Amino acid sequence: MSFDGEAAGWADDPAVKAMDDLFLSTMRELAAAGKLTTGGVRMLDYGCGPGSKSFALLLADDDAIRPREVVAVDISEPMLAALADLKAKIEADHGPLPLEALHVDPAPRQIAALASFDVIAPGYVLHHIGPDIEDEVYATLAGALAEDGWLVASEFDDDAHANSGAIVGKLAAQGLDQIEIIRPEFDMEILYDF
Ligand SMILES: C[S@@+](CC[C@H](N)C(=O)[O-])C[C@H]1O[C@@H](n2cnc3c(N)ncnc32)[C@H](O)[C@@H]1O
Repeated sequence: MSFDGEAAGWADDPAVKAMDDLFLSTMRELAAAGKLTTGGVRMLDYGCGPGSKSFALLLADDDAIRPREVVAVDISEPMLAALADLKAKIEADHGPLPLEALHVDPAPRQIAALASFDVIAPGYVLHHIGPDIEDEVYATLAGALAEDGWLVASEFDDDAHANSGAIVGKLAAQGLDQIEIIRPEFDMEILYDF
């Protein structure tokens, strides 16, 4: 599924804003609980879209969740153009932000050269990774995560956790054990016209 046509309005969609708020509040809760923090870390925003989750963290007023550096990657040039627009607008008010955005291949070989990351945060992207490339994608993400790093995936789910369960299984198969899944209460139909 291509997101090129969704890029222009993505960050302003109320459902996306609700998911960004959930991401931010969950990161605050996890940091407060001493479980995991994005504070002071180097983070990979995988499947970043317009980067609104990363911007939310970078603009946070508490050190506990503000990363020191973000690399944001996506396969969609229009999404990265939307990110560049948003970044320019935010930086006009707040000054330079430590966020580098990069276009990557669907099986993102480029990520290995950028490693390592303390936190990898795929936002609603892992369910889009097809079976033809998923082994390569999961191995690449696992290889790019620092020792003791966390993978924090935002993902839709059902009551049986079928989607997130499958994703956790694939990550665990790559040797990852520090995994957190952030699940919105609403379903993906709110965003996509299935
Ligand atoms: C549902 S959107 C989510 C965007 C953003 N993470 C968010 O939470 O608002 C999924 C994004 O993943 C990107 N994407 C899909 N497959 C990808 C892949 N193999 N590698 C990197 N990005 C991918 C899409 O282009 C799109 O921008």
